[in-house]
Amino acid sequence: MLSIIIVLLNLLIETSVSLTVVVPPDPIVAHVGSTVTLPCWISPPENAEALEIRWYRQDQFNNPVLLYNQGKIQDVQEESYRNRSSLTLRSDQSGGLKDGDVSLRLEKLRVQDGGLFHCYVSGEHSYGSEEMTLKITALGSAPVLSPESLDDGRVNISCRSSGWYPEPSVSWTSNEGRVLRLGGTSHTRGADEMISVHSWTAVSLSDAQLVSCSVSLRTGELKEGRLDIKGIVSSGPSDSSGTWKALFFSVLICSLLGLFGLIFYKYKHKQTGKKPAEENCEEETLQRLINEVMEDMNIEELRQHADEITIDRERSHPGLMVSKDCKILRDSSEYEPTGEGFPYQLCAFGAKGFTSGRHYWEVELVVPPKPAKIFWIIGVMKHGNLPTRDRSDLTPSAGFWFLCSDGPRGFCTNTDPLIRFSLTPRPERLGVLLDYDHGQLSFYNVTERKHLLTISCRFSGSVLPLFNPGVGDKSPLKILDLPKPAEPDEPSPSQSNMVVVELDVKASDNL
Ligand SMILES: *[C@@H]1O[C@H](CO)[C@@H](O)[C@H](O)[C@H]1NC(C)=O
Ligand SMILES: *[C@@H]1O[C@H](CO)[C@@H](O)[C@H](O)[C@H]1NC(C)=O
Repeated sequence: MLSIIIVLLNLLIETSVSLTVVVPPDPIVAHVGSTVTLPCWISPPENAEALEIRWYRQDQFNNPVLLYNQGKIQDVQEESYRNRSSLTLRSDQSGGLKDGDVSLRLEKLRVQDGGLFHCYVSGEHSYGSEEMTLKITALGSAPVLSPESLDDGRVNISCRSSGWYPEPSVSWTSNEGRVLRLGGTSHTRGADEMISVHSWTAVSLSDAQLVSCSVSLRTGELKEGRLDIKGIVSSGPSDSSGTWKALFFSVLICSLLGLFGLIFYKYKHKQTGKKPAEENCEEETLQRLINEVMEDMNIEELRQHADEITIDRERSHPGLMVSKDCKILRDSSEYEPTGEGFPYQLCAFGAKGFTSGRHYWEVELVVPPKPAKIFWIIGVMKHGNLPTRDRSDLTPSAGFWFLCSDGPRGFCTNTDPLIRFSLTPRPERLGVLLDYDHGQLSFYNVTERKHLLTISCRFSGSVLPLFNPGVGDKSPLKILDLPKPAEPDEPSPSQSNMVVVELDVKASDNL
């Protein structure tokens, strides 16, 4: 009798020792494609090595995200989580399984990973379980703004951006921060669940000069695109400079559209001789640009013009560090940026100038495993120039021609007005072809073998390569050693598919 009571008492004691698992009270938010840790632990700490740990989605107890049992991860798993899930530490201080930390690590997150996750831990006589929410977001591309003149003198501006999750909201503001009236917004969902957004507003020059379209998530993350409409609103058909500006602008917009990854344009009428690019870019044909694929570039052909470029250490900005071999450039850790915005003054130049011919060089913008650079300027400038902090001094007429990557604000050329655009994917190795005699500066995404854009320039005197590594990037900017070309003076790379950004307004008065 006594022994039965003792056994019962024992059982009672054992079952009453229940496991308590703890998860954070708030949902975890993570981006599509990223890696996330879902923290979960036993409290008070208890060695979990001999326990069963089961992470599962709602109603999927038998088809878990991850199952740890008998001292190892079991091969029982929902297929979509294979090779993407593991046990991890919830912090650097965590003692891991021994200390009852049973946190889950999920990689390559998808939209479908959003929702409830159960953290279930079970011993021989007791178990504990908690649930937590994972919210998936995706930050889309920088918005692309394109104008269309309306009969009443206003401009209908469209703002497009893709790759969002969940549905983003759109707001329009003027340069003074005034909210502009929204014309309409539509969302479309792609096969990958990602959402594209298209919004429009109709404005006149009296409403705003610089129009900004901001696409944002409820988390507060946003992307913004801007457009200066001064050049588009023509003051009347008799004003030829206004008309010209409008044309110039469509060319520019057209050219920029060519860069957006999904929007490419291949000249179909390259054989019909003098058909000017402007004609192709009138508003009704803008639509036609979509979905045409740009031809790949022959990088080997470009490399025929490879030149040995080194940085002039003596003349580089004191806030920069230049490697001994004069090839690697970065901001010095002591350098304190003054003022807001891109540090335009932080420049270094090539040691050798060019006065004729074609010259090609490549710049590496990532040193794995560090992330790719997001701040840089790469281009050329007239010998003897000194870049200042003020962007308005760095114009083509002052002898600067460059492509600028301004972090989250996207890319721009030093055009006036400034137009920001996005490049997808972000170039990790940039090719630069200076064609002095033909007055062209072209940029290429070497890794993707794509021509990005060409700037028309009027060079005079000696022209130097220009580099600016920005401030704060983990990776430096590195000029690559290219194999010496075997036979020089090959024909120039095919220009039929080039998108020309006409920068020099005066040069085109003969239109
Ligand atoms: C998981 O990884 C293994 C070995 O690395 C590989 O053979 C398998 O195809 C991968 N499975 C999935 C679903 O990616
Ligand atoms: C502006 O353009 C969009 C398409 O981009 C169109 O749906 C809208 O009706 C236009 N608005 C006006 C006022 O023309």
